[in-house]
Amino acid sequence: MQRILILGGTLEARLLAARLRGRADAAVTLSLAGRTAAPAAQPVPVRVGGFGGAEGLAAYLRAERIAALIDATHPYAATISANAARAAAVAGVRLLALRRLPWQPIAGDRWTEVADVPEAVRALGPAPRRVFLALGRKELRPFGAAPQHHYLVRSVDPVDPPLPVPHATYVVARGPFAEPAERELLISHAIDAIVAKNSGGDATYGKIAAARARGIAVIMMRRPPHPEVPSVETIEAVISWLDHALTSAEARGV
Ligand SMILES: NC(=O)c1ccc[n+]([C@@H]2O[C@H](COP(=O)([O-])OP(=O)(O)OC[C@H]3O[C@@H](n4cnc5c(N)ncnc54)[C@H](OP(=O)(O)O)[C@@H]3O)[C@@H](O)[C@H]2O)c1
Repeated sequence: MQRILILGGTLEARLLAARLRGRADAAVTLSLAGRTAAPAAQPVPVRVGGFGGAEGLAAYLRAERIAALIDATHPYAATISANAARAAAVAGVRLLALRRLPWQPIAGDRWTEVADVPEAVRALGPAPRRVFLALGRKELRPFGAAPQHHYLVRSVDPVDPPLPVPHATYVVARGPFAEPAERELLISHAIDAIVAKNSGGDATYGKIAAARARGIAVIMMRRPPHPEVPSVETIEAVISWLDHALTSAEARGV
């Protein structure tokens, strides 16, 4: 029985764990950062909380005799992905990243690509707008510097403290979010701009499609750079890689 660690916090990580559950040749643990108060139920044993940097993760990989590490974290979780690359190299553990392809703009999309949150704030401009912030709670602070806008903020857990702006509405909800409901949301809040990450995948594409349908501007934050590690785009490809990695780990007596 080989031990596999999945770095998660994404739908793909959960689906991958579900596919691996019950395999006779693998014991799977899913790792969550512990950001959300009530995380979604997971199909395999879970550990919660940081490892203490790349060194901490490397020590965990050794102590737990992990044979394969799967980085299935969100494409904007750059620190943990960099730590995974360093830790796997230090501990001599095979690493594969599962990364969704980014969305590409198509006809009718009105995207402005920006590097980061401060640039997104500037891209909104000086005139008051009605802005849907489709970002994580910890990324909202810089919008306090642009209090002229009305903000709609959606997050898994409540935003506390709230943004230091006079006009902000908060919605607590967990995806996936389908296009028809996203369209309703944009209409009911009279949204004229969305600030979003290029997460890829279907679960959060609804707002992008809804923006296109309504001719609404999207300020799209570019993805952070990823470490140069072997990576695939589908759960199927992870399973094939694991089949090979586990066989060769067994042959090496890991
Ligand atoms: N960033 C996003 O937009 C986004 C969106 C959806 C879901 N998520 C998920 O939310 C989690 C945190 O994202 P983030 O952007 O805050 O990460 P991050 O900035 O890359 O990581 C910050 C620190 O959080 C800990 N950490 C992150 N992911 C972890 C995991 N899966 N298991 C254990 N520790 C983890 C690590 O602490 P130590 O250094 O102490 O090990 C890491 O150094 C990730 O699991 C990610 O997949 C992120």
